[in-house]
Amino acid sequence: RTTTVSVIKADIGSLAGHHRVHPDTILAASRVLAEAKRKGVIKSFYVTNAGDDLQLIMTHFKGVDNPEVHELAWTAFREATKVAKDLGLYAAGQDLLSDAFSGNIRGLGPGVAEMEFVERPSEPIVVFMADKTEPGAFNLPLYKIFADPFNTAGLVIDPRLHDGFIFEVLDVFEGKAVELRAPEEIYDLLALIGTPSRYVVKRVYRKSDREIAAVVSSERLSLIAGRYVGKDDPVMIVRAQSGFPAVGEVLEPFAFPHLVAGWMRGSHHGPLMPVGLKDSKVSRFDGPPRVIALGFQVKNGELIGPADLFDDPAFDEARRQAQMIADYIRRHGPFMPHRLGPEEMEYTTLPEVLKRLKDRFKPVEMGYKPKVKHEAGEAADVD
Ligand code: F6R
Ligand code: MG
Ligand code: MG
Repeated sequence: RTTTVSVIKADIGSLAGHHRVHPDTILAASRVLAEAKRKGVIKSFYVTNAGDDLQLIMTHFKGVDNPEVHELAWTAFREATKVAKDLGLYAAGQDLLSDAFSGNIRGLGPGVAEMEFVERPSEPIVVFMADKTEPGAFNLPLYKIFADPFNTAGLVIDPRLHDGFIFEVLDVFEGKAVELRAPEEIYDLLALIGTPSRYVVKRVYRKSDREIAAVVSSERLSLIAGRYVGKDDPVMIVRAQSGFPAVGEVLEPFAFPHLVAGWMRGSHHGPLMPVGLKDSKVSRFDGPPRVIALGFQVKNGELIGPADLFDDPAFDEARRQAQMIADYIRRHGPFMPHRLGPEEMEYTTLPEVLKRLKDRFKPVEMGYKPKVKHEAGEAADVD
């Protein structure tokens, strides 16, 4: 029998702007899931928040993309939204882009990461949940966990990891995916996933037996809605130990608060700060972007836990570094590379500004004719 872990999240409104989820909405969602557990739709669940995102962590025996489980998550978000509206929470219902559920929650706004596996005798998993950033934010940590022996000692010294892993990389603009093998193809892999706004590591498999090792939510809300409706704050599930990287190897990349896209108005680069549940909220400049990590054991479909893995002095230094980086990069104000490039801006008045100034742009004799066609305010397109 296989067990499925489904992590489904949505921002359905929050307290004090985009600061954090209100406990009453967590309660509303929990009630819906408790009832479904009683009816046997799911086996167990844990509801929490990553900043302003409501997180449903569920286990069941129905496989990935199961309509009943997806509808359950949709109902939980709808019920939580009702509470959010009653309380006048900010941006109530923000991520629910449709009024009607049609069998699968993907494409309707919420983020989804699901994996199905035959449980090992002891099955440790880590669920990562980030706020004020995008799915590609997990590219760098995933590379380190599954392909970098300077991070994961097991790649070198554990025979069960030594063959390496397969990365499934999604092109979110084209809706296509490619599988690349580590270590053989790491240069090609890095050439793609170094552009996290476009190429997102969607899944990782162990090469020797194609066992699923990790899965990331890859929804990009603006690509679904065609406009800015909130950042695509991502979630990720990683299996750990005995043949997978150890929990400590899975957490290790987060000791480096790398720069991610998101933060204020989904339009700025900032450090990803690992925090415990008590700090799962945002403040400064609506950030800085944060990530929580909850560890569970999965036993007979039951979630045992959680362990609040970043709630630990071992990550104090990463948090301190993140503060320093935040101070430093904030001083750039509206300048790149703090502000994202024009093609990645979520909120932008730039097209309007350019339209207004159009007739005031006068030709200038530069002594050469630019060969690269380039529309101001858009990505340079070489053709
Ligand atoms: C980023 C985010 C916030 C808002 C910002 C402005 O993902 O949610 O930084 O973009 O607080 O919000 P509005 O436009 O609703 O005033
Ligand atoms: Mg919000
Ligand atoms: Mg959020």
